[in-house]
Amino acid sequence: MLTDAEEALVARTVLGAVDEVVTRGAFLSTVLERALKSVPDALREAVVLRCRAFVRRWRALAELMPTGSPGDRYAGLLALEGLGPTKRSLEAAFAKWLAVEAPVVRVARHAGLPDWLAARLVEQYGAADALALATALDRDAPTCVRANRLLTTRESLCVALAEFGPQPMALATDGLVLTGGVGVFQSAPFQRGEFEVQDEGSQLVAELVAPPPKGLVLDLCAGSGGKSLALAALLKGKGRVVATDVAEHKLDELRRRARRAQAGNVQILPYAEAEALIPKADRVLLDAPCSGTGALRRNPEARHHLKASDLARFATAQAELLARTVSALRPGGRVVYATCSVLREENEDVVATVAGVDVVPPKELWGRARATALTSSDGRFLQLLPHRHGTDGFFAAVLRRRA
Ligand SMILES: C[S@@+](CC[C@H](N)C(=O)[O-])C[C@H]1O[C@@H](n2cnc3c(N)ncnc32)[C@H](O)[C@@H]1O
Repeated sequence: MLTDAEEALVARTVLGAVDEVVTRGAFLSTVLERALKSVPDALREAVVLRCRAFVRRWRALAELMPTGSPGDRYAGLLALEGLGPTKRSLEAAFAKWLAVEAPVVRVARHAGLPDWLAARLVEQYGAADALALATALDRDAPTCVRANRLLTTRESLCVALAEFGPQPMALATDGLVLTGGVGVFQSAPFQRGEFEVQDEGSQLVAELVAPPPKGLVLDLCAGSGGKSLALAALLKGKGRVVATDVAEHKLDELRRRARRAQAGNVQILPYAEAEALIPKADRVLLDAPCSGTGALRRNPEARHHLKASDLARFATAQAELLARTVSALRPGGRVVYATCSVLREENEDVVATVAGVDVVPPKELWGRARATALTSSDGRFLQLLPHRHGTDGFFAAVLRRRA
């Protein structure tokens, strides 16, 4: 329970941050980084969670309380989230608002999504599955970590992180879900490099790359290196993971993380030098820039920035990137094309644009028993969805260059 003074500070901070996101188009993570500096540690989680809830519920609050002041809407949010004194009339109006029959509007309202995105989900998944998917994307994501095999095991890490309530993941080999993750970055195992924070789906994409022992793997869209580090660990610190990104400044964070993880087999190269290695590589990972629709649990504000027209732009860039990579592969060489999008336009449709490759279905790498529950209905691709797998939404295709 917060005191009145704490509640007032939280409310002021949340309202200021949400105003910048919703009315001025700022990114919540950027706004929060600044705003949290003037909030005591003990109140930070409340601010972050309420900001996320506010951003998600914005559409409902704006439509149900069109003339309400920001303060009224905040009170409405507390009622809807069960955090404040209940306002029965608002709850009843909200329930009626949600009960609309038209499937697209229903999905949009339940999950606070723009209509164009709800329409695509309904078209691609059907009304019932789209509602379940959108609702799952609207929840907060659990804190997921990956035990760093270079320094520990999942079992030892489970003991070392006991105070955070670790549970072994059902799907990813080295993963733990923390039921209470607050403060985990200050923990001794983190400082010692014994784990990385990484969604279960992202861990599974790295597992699907399946580098051969001592192999050469290129990660051409490495960013801050979540998957590069997982690949380095899968290679047991041997072989080589060459990581690069067109935005080379992002690699600074990877450099720091690789040092902490003692991943001596990660080599960071300028983009052109890394790309020149494609013909020599055993595996290339293209974790392509995408709409991020699968990761809305972790970036809820992205729904306000994403436009329908962005999809075509992403798809064009993704197809170009994939074609360029495939054309440089040696015969038999493999590229793993991955996104954290749940939309066909960025996934199956992009894969369909490349010629001269065979799709390697996940069951060939993992066996039928493991792969079946994790693949698209035709079995050709890795398809992870939050309402089915509890992961962020991910897609991955393993493509082998024909001779
Ligand atoms: C999905 S993020 C990568 C996340 C990262 N692999 C991880 O696991 O943490 C996509 C990355 O692709 C990069 N990118 C954008 N356009 C690119 C291009 N044409 N070639 C290579 N990388 C690109 C972006 O800078 C971004 O870091």
